[in-house]
Amino acid sequence: MQTVATVAALRKLIDLWRKQDERIVLVPTMGNLHAGHLALIRHAHSCGSKIVCTIFVNSLQFDRKEDLAAYPRTPDEDLKALEREQTDLVFMPSHEEVYCEQNRIKKSMPDNPLNQQLCGAYRPGFFDGVVEVVARLFYMTDPDVAVFGEKDYQQLVIIKQLVKDLDMAIQIEQVSTEREKDGLAFSSRNGYLDRRERAIAPQLYGELRRVEHQVKKAQHTFAVLESQAVERLQQAGFRPDYVAIRDAATLEPASNETRQIAILAAAWLGKARLIDNVLVSMA
Ligand code: PAF
Repeated sequence: MQTVATVAALRKLIDLWRKQDERIVLVPTMGNLHAGHLALIRHAHSCGSKIVCTIFVNSLQFDRKEDLAAYPRTPDEDLKALEREQTDLVFMPSHEEVYCEQNRIKKSMPDNPLNQQLCGAYRPGFFDGVVEVVARLFYMTDPDVAVFGEKDYQQLVIIKQLVKDLDMAIQIEQVSTEREKDGLAFSSRNGYLDRRERAIAPQLYGELRRVEHQVKKAQHTFAVLESQAVERLQQAGFRPDYVAIRDAATLEPASNETRQIAILAAAWLGKARLIDNVLVSMA
């Protein structure tokens, strides 16, 4: 496994692999790797022959409520885990390297209204920051395939649209959410939970599964199900931002005709803002 910090070094290796007809798979991360990230790397191996993982804590996607300086950074452990997973190349650039003018994508960035909805409504500028860095990482790496987790479902939908809007020939692969035994989705933010909050946290997924059941039984309107779920989360000790029943492809509000549904939630528990979702196929 090689580790590089500059775009010049990254491109040198990628150019060499391209000449050798390798299929390049990109797995972008912000480090502090857990089982969810490692599942992305394992999936990446099934999509191509050279696996490039990026570790870059993107300051553009942090707001005042989440401190950039406090974000967990564990580079030594991350590199060991990536080595074990037979990653070929790790790109660990500085802020200056990513955000210098020559690494800006040379097309005008598309405006996606979805950036301002759901999590975007509660974290202004967050998805603009994600899109900016992902577009740059795509531009720098020029992968055949890029792998993202379903855990950050809105991010996944926005990135699929970005690739279409920018007309990039990158196949986006999605990987299902890795969970602890009690159902809590793996997340770097779980480290912010104290013992009492950690015991409550799995109820977020439990609530999503309950809404899934109710959606399938079509007992109430979706709006009623959403507000009941918010209330139950409040009673459990969460401070929910939203529970939303959406079309899984567009994230528009779902209707009775929608065949693939995403039920998404974001809720604060102490200092941690947890997000999760379940995807439902309506037969
Ligand atoms: O999902 C993440 O970890 C980040 O949002 C990403 C895609 C690496 C961009 O910084």
